[in-house]
Amino acid sequence: MISFFQKKNKFKNPLHTDIHSHLLAGLDDGVKTQKEAIDLVTHFHRLGYQKLITTPHINNDYYRNEPEGIGKGLAELIDAVKAEAIPIVIEAAAEYYLDEELMKKVDAKEKLLTFGQSYLLFETNFLTEPYQLNDFIFKVITQGYKPILAHPERYAYMTVEKAEELKTRGVLLQLNIPSLVGFYSKPIQQLAYKLIDKGWIDLLGSDCHNAIHLQVLEDAVQNKYFRKVVELPLLNNSL
Ligand SMILES: [Fe+2]
Repeated sequence: MISFFQKKNKFKNPLHTDIHSHLLAGLDDGVKTQKEAIDLVTHFHRLGYQKLITTPHINNDYYRNEPEGIGKGLAELIDAVKAEAIPIVIEAAAEYYLDEELMKKVDAKEKLLTFGQSYLLFETNFLTEPYQLNDFIFKVITQGYKPILAHPERYAYMTVEKAEELKTRGVLLQLNIPSLVGFYSKPIQQLAYKLIDKGWIDLLGSDCHNAIHLQVLEDAVQNKYFRKVVELPLLNNSL
């Protein structure tokens, strides 16, 4: 018998590793200060995370981050996390924006920032499909990378058919957890649900830029589609 006084059953986030966030202070549109970064890392730890792979933006128009600057930002954050004795592992890679500059790097076979076994996180223009998309996918896979498209549900050009085509080409799909509760928009939430129903999501990410995102993430963990997506063979906890 269900007691009236029974404590509401809260779903516990089973993810140990987050693979998409903007936690290196001052490098992009994510956190501004080390104090803010520490507050967010503390919150991630409270939500059950044991490892954060943070991914500063790299794009030619706004954030021309280089591996050296990202490495320096990472070392500073690791020091701060140690000083606060937060038991969590911090690593860094990048979220590459598919632009001319990225294609130049790929064509020059420049070493790109990855995590795990050569996972390469990238994003594209939000409105139209970039003309280099297929060329990019082919080239990076040929070079041994495993491309992960960040938040497929957020692109105006994305459809279920397009997502299927990308999967066929060897692209892994990373859904943003805040999309599940309609944080970005209703159509984005609906496409997120469709991609989950298809079973095509390979990774989940917080895409955390600030405290609001983590509050939304905490709520999203209670969403029925979150329970559904964590049943898929996600790569998060293998990283
Ligand atoms: Fe991001």
